[in-house]
Amino acid sequence: MKNIMISRTVESTQTSIHGNLESLVVKHMHSEYLRPIPDFSRLAFQEFERRFAASEKSHIILDSCCGTGESTLHLAMRHPDCFVVGVDKSAHRLGKHSASAAGSELFKASNYTILRADVEDFWRLTSKYSSQIIRHCIFYPNPYPKSHHIMRRWHGHPLFAPMLRLAPETELRTNWRIYAEEFAFASSLLGYTVGLHEMRDIQPVSAFERKYHASGHALFQVVVRQP
Ligand SMILES: C[S@@+](CC[C@H](N)C(=O)[O-])C[C@H]1O[C@@H](n2cnc3c(N)ncnc32)[C@H](O)[C@@H]1O
Repeated sequence: MKNIMISRTVESTQTSIHGNLESLVVKHMHSEYLRPIPDFSRLAFQEFERRFAASEKSHIILDSCCGTGESTLHLAMRHPDCFVVGVDKSAHRLGKHSASAAGSELFKASNYTILRADVEDFWRLTSKYSSQIIRHCIFYPNPYPKSHHIMRRWHGHPLFAPMLRLAPETELRTNWRIYAEEFAFASSLLGYTVGLHEMRDIQPVSAFERKYHASGHALFQVVVRQP
């Protein structure tokens, strides 16, 4: 039995899609993100390459900001024909992986790995595998609900467009409706086909999904498909 903490819903002064989002997305389309990639992310990427090659799979599922990696395991069990890579920058969260998997049937999966890296680096490094990445999952990213933090949300980030190019299908989950609406809006500005749904009949696949579900939050799913 897992301990479940009750959490509060996201509070923000924003009541709808951020007024600067469209201009930000357009501005980022004409710029290149040049932040240097640190060694720890390069090493994590090399580890990914080594494990992917050893798996002898040809398709990849990327689980960005995977936290404890519970969703990574879940995806690995559901897609035994794929190699699933979970990436998170928090050593603390990744360190809880065995505890989150213990006692679960999911523990049997071996077609996955979880790695410590900044996804801003990993997305750029992994773009050379984009023809093999069949799905990109981003479950419950930090919402950054303060209006002036719009560029910290993934759809306000300079890497949003390159990130969407990584896979034919990108799935976002969030407990903040405005985050879902903004992600969908920014994706459609870039010409993608977008579906936004409130999720029902939830069987939680990650620590945060379980916590938010137990707290009675509405949970939203955005699926973005390449045209
Ligand atoms: C709210 S938690 C959600 C974790 C997990 N997806 C879940 O559903 O349980 C957000 C996660 O994003 C990770 N994160 C935030 N920014 C990141 C970045 N730039 N690179 C990698 N991980 C990041 C945090 O460390 C944290 O584990």
